[in-house]
Amino acid sequence: MSPRPPLIAPSILSADFARLADEAAAVEGADWLHVDVMDGHFVPNLTLGLPVVESLLAATDIPMDCHLMIDDPDRWAPPYAEAGAHNVTIHVEAAADPVGVARDIRAAGAKAGLSVKPGTPLEPYLEILRDFDTLLVMSVEPGFGGQSFIPDVLSKVRTARRLVDAGELTILVEIDGGINADTIEAAAEAGVDCFVAGSAVYGAEDPAAAVAALRRQAGAASPHLRC
Ligand code: DX5
Ligand code: ZN
Repeated sequence: MSPRPPLIAPSILSADFARLADEAAAVEGADWLHVDVMDGHFVPNLTLGLPVVESLLAATDIPMDCHLMIDDPDRWAPPYAEAGAHNVTIHVEAAADPVGVARDIRAAGAKAGLSVKPGTPLEPYLEILRDFDTLLVMSVEPGFGGQSFIPDVLSKVRTARRLVDAGELTILVEIDGGINADTIEAAAEAGVDCFVAGSAVYGAEDPAAAVAALRRQAGAASPHLRC
């Protein structure tokens, strides 16, 4: 496997929701813009939905990474792909037919992501990952920004990395939750390709500089990555 540059995806959950277009512009140079859609049912928090995502898509050129923490993604996920999101991720714990949703997302022109909560094992889902483009490993309980990284989830990252490097899967390995200057190297070493960071980016004085610094740090931490 030839090394690839690490992808950094700032999460706007930690941004100012009254100024989302400006907050997207503040992370110029980011690889993906991570948008956390929460429905107050699948997770105990409520954020934003399709109308806000549509407005944000018109306001930025950064490829959008929609992380749907919602019930019934079978019904609600494809419209995010139709709207123009780059990647649409659903939770395996919430989907009735994850492979069917992945097909619908891909048919609408987006990449399809599958996410697992910290307590959800990966093994039962290795087969269906062939139908996805992205695996999003949650390294905090989904619902809130600013939580502490759970290192145990890195065993799932290592499993996925091994299968990708062996040519058995072609997914991008993404991690979400508690990623900052103290944790990104361990995640990179375990095999992550794409790093979501909310508070570490939007809590920084210069969010764009924080993105660049995280990218450099990840790129230096593992041979599978290179800046
Ligand atoms: C949590 C969200 C994350 C969150 C990460 O449920 O999925 O994307 O914004 O925030 P930090 O990086 O602050 O842990
Ligand atoms: Zn997220």
